[in-house]
Parts: sequence; structure tokens; C-alpha cells
Amino acid sequence: MRIAIMGAMPEEIAPILKQLGEYKTTSYAGNTYYEATYKGAVLVIAYSKIGKVFSTLTATTLIEHFGVQKLLFSGVAGAISESLKVGDLLVATKLSQHDLDITAFGHPYGYVPEGAVYIEADKELITLSKQIALQMDKNIQEGIIATGDQFVANEERKNWIGATFGADALEMEGGSVAVVCDAFKVPFFILRAISDAADMDASFSFDVFLEASAKESAAFVMNMVDAIIEKNV
Ligand code: ADE
Repeated sequence: MRIAIMGAMPEEIAPILKQLGEYKTTSYAGNTYYEATYKGAVLVIAYSKIGKVFSTLTATTLIEHFGVQKLLFSGVAGAISESLKVGDLLVATKLSQHDLDITAFGHPYGYVPEGAVYIEADKELITLSKQIALQMDKNIQEGIIATGDQFVANEERKNWIGATFGADALEMEGGSVAVVCDAFKVPFFILRAISDAADMDASFSFDVFLEASAKESAAFVMNMVDAIIEKNV
């Protein structure tokens, strides 16, 4: 089995590379890909750089060039829901693009013809994540993630995204990775640990909590990998 673990920033995959210790490094289309044999499976790990375009490129490369059969994303997000605090883990049930706007033509926000406002993450992987959370005695929440090419540090924008998409958290890659995986029929799982509240203090909070929150997310994703391999999901 070939499983991708993807992040957007070096900090998001560093804990995983540290745990693996040994891996093969390949440069491809402007990114570095790390391949490791792990418990009989092959893990392909990469960070894309920030945003929808770079994450689209990396997800496509992982699938089309490295032949991964599942994709797990690990990273951080800004909270919209009041119930999400810094360090909390959120599993995406479905994802949308909050900055996709052809409403001038009468379409809803996040929609283009032949696309969909929401892309659903793989249900089997979400079910597995609940089992793992129980085993780890870890509280995880499920919710909608809205993605856009914008670091949101503004209460008004955050509330608009929350109201328009019913979103619980926002970030800059999940929605585009979802589009790619959906198109290639590759099951995907997007996990985010909260680093900030997408408000006026967001950039400060992000800088302070990025590393710790990324570690939380990475540790959980590695338990997901173990379970996928053990249970042959
Ligand atoms: N990722 C983490 N925090 C974020 C924010 N406030 N806006 C966009 N992406 C984020």
C-alpha cells in the first residue's frame, strides 16, 4: 500500500519525518518528496507550500507520479466555531473554497459549473479516526472546513465564511486537495489542529502555536497510518 502524508509547511511534516528517521528524498516539480518503508507500506511525505495552487500541484503529483492510494493531510487551521480552541483537533467531513466567487452569474459562493460547493472526505477514514480518538482518549471534533488563498485575521471575514459555508474552521489547502482526490477517486482525510481564531490576533497566535499544533495533528495522523496498515482499510 502507498499512503501519502501531506502538509503545507515544513513544520507540518517535520514531526513525521523525525519519527521515521530514514527516508529517500526526491525532487520533483519544485518540491521535495520523502519516501519511507513503514510496517510493510510505503509512505510518501511532502509539504506543498501554502495555498490552493501549490497544494493542488502536490496532491496531483502524489497521486499521478508517486502512485499513492490514500492521502492524509496534517496541518493547522484557524477556528471559526466557538467550540474549537487552540490545540484542538478537527476532522473535515467536507470542504469548500470560500474565495471561489462567480455569484455575478447567479451561482452560490464556492460553486463553478461541473464542480460542487462541498467535497466530502472519505467516510471510512473518518470512522477510523473516531476509533483512534477513543483509543488515544483524545477529544476530536468533526466539521466543515473552508479553504481560500487568504490568511484570515479578521472577525468579519471569518464570520462571513462561517455563515456562508457553515464552516467550523478555515485554512488554505484542504479544499483544493479535496478537489484533486475526488477527481482521481483517491480516499482522503484532512486533519487540522487549531493554531488561532482567525481574528485580529491570528498571526501572533499562529506563530506561537504552529509548531505545537502541527505536532498534535502529526501524532494523530501517524496513528491513522498505523491503523490503516493494521486493519488494511
Ligand atoms: N491556517 C491557520 N490559521 C489560518 C488562518 N487564520 N487563515 C488561513 N489559514 C490558516
